[in-house]
Amino acid sequence: MACPTEILAADSAGCKRASDILSAGGLVAFPTETVYGLGGDARNTAAVARIFEAKNRPSFNPLIVHVSDIGAAADLVEWTPLADTLARAFWPGPLTLVMPQIKGGGLSPLATSELSTLAIRIPAHKAARELLKAFSGPISAPSANPSGCISPTRASHVTKGLSGKIEAVIDGGPCRVGLESTIVSLVDQPVLLRPGGLMTESIEEVLGFALEKKTTGGRITSPGQLASHYAPDSPVRLNAAEKRPGEVLLGFGDVACDLNLSPSGDLAEAASNLFCHLHELDAGNPKTIAISPIPDLGIGRPINDRLRRAARSRNHE
Ligand code: TXA
Ligand code: MG
Repeated sequence: MACPTEILAADSAGCKRASDILSAGGLVAFPTETVYGLGGDARNTAAVARIFEAKNRPSFNPLIVHVSDIGAAADLVEWTPLADTLARAFWPGPLTLVMPQIKGGGLSPLATSELSTLAIRIPAHKAARELLKAFSGPISAPSANPSGCISPTRASHVTKGLSGKIEAVIDGGPCRVGLESTIVSLVDQPVLLRPGGLMTESIEEVLGFALEKKTTGGRITSPGQLASHYAPDSPVRLNAAEKRPGEVLLGFGDVACDLNLSPSGDLAEAASNLFCHLHELDAGNPKTIAISPIPDLGIGRPINDRLRRAARSRNHE
């Protein structure tokens, strides 16, 4: 179903309009500090079904629910002291917790792909918080890109992929963090399911012990193992010392290149530029996007995670 996509300002009027659209069962993309999310009322099965349809996302891949405060989270999942510790340390922020869902919490079963667990977070972006407050209900929101493509960190990335399929997008400018949230499962022992915008080291410091790391890659056997490839249309070549004929080079640090993630070698800056630069280079349809080596430490680890996925062939699975 084609519908015109309204561009809304990231102010009170824009958030109120977005909230009204959500209440009527519509879809609104909104900025978070990580990436833009594609929001729908998590209690409305028809709205949630439209999220899967707009993204062309496989229905077995569950969505993250966004809430406004810890009380709202505790209404949906079996809250624990450990969850409380992490939530108080890092929410609002780029951390998603996976926990057993409370039966009768009112969520559409489709939002969680009928799993008994729920991925939940409180985003930090001002417009996201204002929208959650105005809507005063749980909002399902995967990244606002067609399934398998690069996540959006600008409103223009959202409209490029989803224009005509969603009612509106709130334009909140560039996303500060630029990588999706870090996902930690608290279903049993804490397990890192996806490295992301919150550094693993920061979580481990609060926990006082190391997180178990779930190995990803290869065939996807369960949700949380990242069905998407974060892939541009052009092939990607990693750890490139220099560019070869026909390539464009996405650089890092002091290198001659077409676009630079961070000329000064700052990993946080590189994270916030990553998807935007990939979108921009990909738009030129180069033969290959070559990418400089990125140090595999701190936020460099989730950057390399995304780059490895981008480099995998689309026909891999
Ligand atoms: O930063 C973010 O997390 C963004 C913003 C919009 O919040 N959202 C995002 O959503 O990246 P998405 O759908 O692109 O990625 C969510 C990941 C998927 O890999 C999904 O399989 C996993 O979370 N997931 C969702 N529910 C889960 C569950 N119950 N158990 C394990 N993994 C789950
Ligand atoms: Mg995604």
